[in-house]
Amino acid sequence: MAQGREHFNTQIGFILACVGSAVGLGNLWMFPWRLGQYGGAAFLIPYLLFVYLIGVTGLMGEYGLGRMTGKGPMGAFDQVLRKKGMLFGRTMGSYPVIITFLITIFYSVVTAWVVRYVWESFFPSFLEKQDFGAHFNSLFEGGPAILWLGVCLLIVALILGRGVSKGIEGINRIMMPALFGVLLIMIIRSATLEGAGEGFRYLLSPDWSQLTKPITWAMALGQAFFSVSLMGAAMVVYGSYLSKDTDIPYSSFITASFDTMAALAASLVIIPAVFAFGIDPAAGPPLVFVTMPEVFKSMTGGYFFSIIFFVGVLFAAISSLMSIMEVVVDGFMDQFNTSRKLSVGVIAGIAFVLGIPLALDIDNLTIIIDFVSIYLMPIGAVLAGLVFFVINPIKETRDEINVGSNNPVGRWWEPIARYVFIGVSILVVILQMLYQVG
Ligand code: TRP
Repeated sequence: MAQGREHFNTQIGFILACVGSAVGLGNLWMFPWRLGQYGGAAFLIPYLLFVYLIGVTGLMGEYGLGRMTGKGPMGAFDQVLRKKGMLFGRTMGSYPVIITFLITIFYSVVTAWVVRYVWESFFPSFLEKQDFGAHFNSLFEGGPAILWLGVCLLIVALILGRGVSKGIEGINRIMMPALFGVLLIMIIRSATLEGAGEGFRYLLSPDWSQLTKPITWAMALGQAFFSVSLMGAAMVVYGSYLSKDTDIPYSSFITASFDTMAALAASLVIIPAVFAFGIDPAAGPPLVFVTMPEVFKSMTGGYFFSIIFFVGVLFAAISSLMSIMEVVVDGFMDQFNTSRKLSVGVIAGIAFVLGIPLALDIDNLTIIIDFVSIYLMPIGAVLAGLVFFVINPIKETRDEINVGSNNPVGRWWEPIARYVFIGVSILVVILQMLYQVG
């Protein structure tokens, strides 16, 4: 392990940070509407299969690669490739860092809306609005859009500036239990709404015919990758802050399981509530930002529930954004040998400037989100898989993952990592290209 590298203090702190990274807008915002669109309960079959088979394997790989090398993707890829006489590891490893920088920009724009909703929801006048669709469109207006983007990046910068154990680990220890608490309260509130039963029926009645369509499988795969933060970046960096006594197979399984629970919980909150008030559940992107405020407006106790709901969404989004920006901060420190604080300042500053055009224009924003998450992200996961499962001797990889584990993976795991993981992730890239855009 690199001398002087920062560390997570405890295994539970590490796991909470990884759950914080995994549980994000992908769970609370994208998952419920995809579940609705792609067959309800039937969608869970490909989704769970991919999360547990591919997602957990990928997480073990990323944590293990990070821990073995004590470096983010640039240093980690370089260290592995150099042993084989290949000198392009750093260049290859800059790919996940650069793509993660793009994610930093759009994720901050969306998180900024959430920060703004939390602030606004404290004012009772928030729920008196006539038209939340119009309010959503006003998010893109000049000064305030830029201001809230700045506030969002400032919050994340202040947390990351405090470092790995005090900042990232400390904040996740508060945010994650709070988030799951909020989800639990909200599930109960939604379930007790009159008319919620329709929503449950919609969620629980599987449309099996969706499983015969390749797009359902493509969406389930893409969603699984995005949701567990797999792209050779964030989880490699978090892994690099680990000590040798952390149980990687166990941590990977727990990360994936909490991530899945959060996605299911979000669906149980949103879909029944939406049905209870007769709103279209396939509303897609506006679900959280337009539909949910409409729901709170008509609900008993709406003022209270809208505050805790948006605070929950904020915790989910901020803890993911932290892990995203940390990749770039670490890459910058590694490349230019600067202090953490300087690196955080520079990266947040550039993200702010580049985020402005996206904060002002939803069309640009959705184009970038689709392009990055559909084409560019899964390639990062494939690269990390090639480095750690194919180029690095697989026996060594498995031994590294098993260090400190009470649940070591056996030899059966090797072909899963080498062939199933790599094969299926290349398939994601191809399927996504064929089916999602165009
Ligand atoms: N998993 C997060 C979500 O569901 C997004 C995320 C966090 C992410 N870190 C990442 C995606 C790193 C890709 C790479 O919202």
